[in-house]
Amino acid sequence: MKKPAALFSLSHPPTNTTKLFVLLGSPLGHSLSPPMHNLAFERLAMDCLYLPVEVSAKDLGAVFTELLKTNVYGFNITTPHKIAIKEYIDQIDPLASTIGAVNTILVKKDTTIGYNTDGEGFIQSLEREAGIEAAGKRFCVLGCGGAARAIAMTLAAKDAEKILLHNRSQEKAVNLSVEINQKICSCARAVDKDPRAVADAIEQSDILINTTSVGMFPQTKATPVDPALLRPGLVVADIVYNPQETALLTSARARGCRTLEGLGMLLYQGVEAFKIWTGKTPPVMAMRQILEKELAKRRSD
Ligand code: ATR
Repeated sequence: MKKPAALFSLSHPPTNTTKLFVLLGSPLGHSLSPPMHNLAFERLAMDCLYLPVEVSAKDLGAVFTELLKTNVYGFNITTPHKIAIKEYIDQIDPLASTIGAVNTILVKKDTTIGYNTDGEGFIQSLEREAGIEAAGKRFCVLGCGGAARAIAMTLAAKDAEKILLHNRSQEKAVNLSVEINQKICSCARAVDKDPRAVADAIEQSDILINTTSVGMFPQTKATPVDPALLRPGLVVADIVYNPQETALLTSARARGCRTLEGLGMLLYQGVEAFKIWTGKTPPVMAMRQILEKELAKRRSD
């Protein structure tokens, strides 16, 4: 019988002075955040431990409140609690408030402050891995779920010139574009469902971002748009990171596009959370390497 994969490994056992950082969500079995953050703490010789705690929606408030009585210094919040957790925190950062969801919490003395690093994670990945600044660029975003919301709102806050939103159920694209235009700046527009409108939107964009789950393991051959719509020079980003190179990115590369893998957003949302909790810059390269190693391990399990 195969042994279950370890969620994290420790260089030293925790003591009662060890600072705790907790990931709340459900399910968490495949989360890559525990190995990523525990490695960063280890490399910086910090007496800290990142723990995944699986919690249902009904127990979220009680578990969060109990954890605040421990030596906890920060949280990550993931699916499905990013919106519900707002009810239990004391303060919320303006961008997280605009996005309407929290993925990172700083515990400061008796105060809890909520942040959202998902959109910033994408932007950091775009800047650091593709050398592209969001300001003045035109984006076409496929999908309008939670991730798209964080990305599109952060792009608008960073002065993107235009954000074209396309979703299978168009109402969500209309609602998100109205919200961005009202809350941040008038740069968003919903794309019609008509396939020609999608082609036009991609034609008018510098950067195409897939935020849908299309192409994610095990449906690895699927692409969210017809690859024939991808032109040389277009930047194509996918937030799917399993597989690391999705079918969309493979087709995009073959058509002369520049591509950006989803692992970067996962990495940099973690980097930003780590900075918020500790005020320190974590070892980014080592974190990326462990993410790649853990992903390969999960694929072979
Ligand atoms: P996340 O938090 O990762 O953004 P989500 O909030 O569940 O996840 O959003 C998933 C997004 O992917 C939605 O925009 C969804 O479209 P709908 O709003 O129409 O459901 C989109 N999506 C998921 N599966 C899809 C598919 N097979 N084709 C097109 N879009 C899909």
